[in-house]
Amino acid sequence: MQRFSVSLESSLLDRFDTHLDQHGYGNRSEAVRDLIRDALVDEAWQAGKEVTGVITYVYDHHQRQLQDRVTEVQHHHHDIVVATTHVHLDHDHCLEVAIVKGQAEQVRVLADQLKALRGVQSARLAVAGTGRVSS
Ligand code: NI
Repeated sequence: MQRFSVSLESSLLDRFDTHLDQHGYGNRSEAVRDLIRDALVDEAWQAGKEVTGVITYVYDHHQRQLQDRVTEVQHHHHDIVVATTHVHLDHDHCLEVAIVKGQAEQVRVLADQLKALRGVQSARLAVAGTGRVSS
């Protein structure tokens, strides 16, 4: 661990402390570490480096052949799909999450292909990681 000091206007610090309270941080250091990690993950994403993340989507399982199409898209991207989990949300809808790991562009293409399938709703990609860049 290394320490460094930061200078900032008191109004900005007040807002930061409010952010800490709202998110349940015990101290400023942990909050700063998280902000830095998020910035590095964003940077890896922007630079097209390897990222990890989760694609979440809901679909109507009565929609003709949709389940097959979802599976086909996942198989096409088998090299970046680490795992999937399926939940029967209600009588008509399924929720799936696909945990993904790969180059930012490939991950974006996979998420877009799932989103574009007719009958797939509220598809979202959340990129997450340690902030360490592995490629
Ligand atoms: Ni289901």
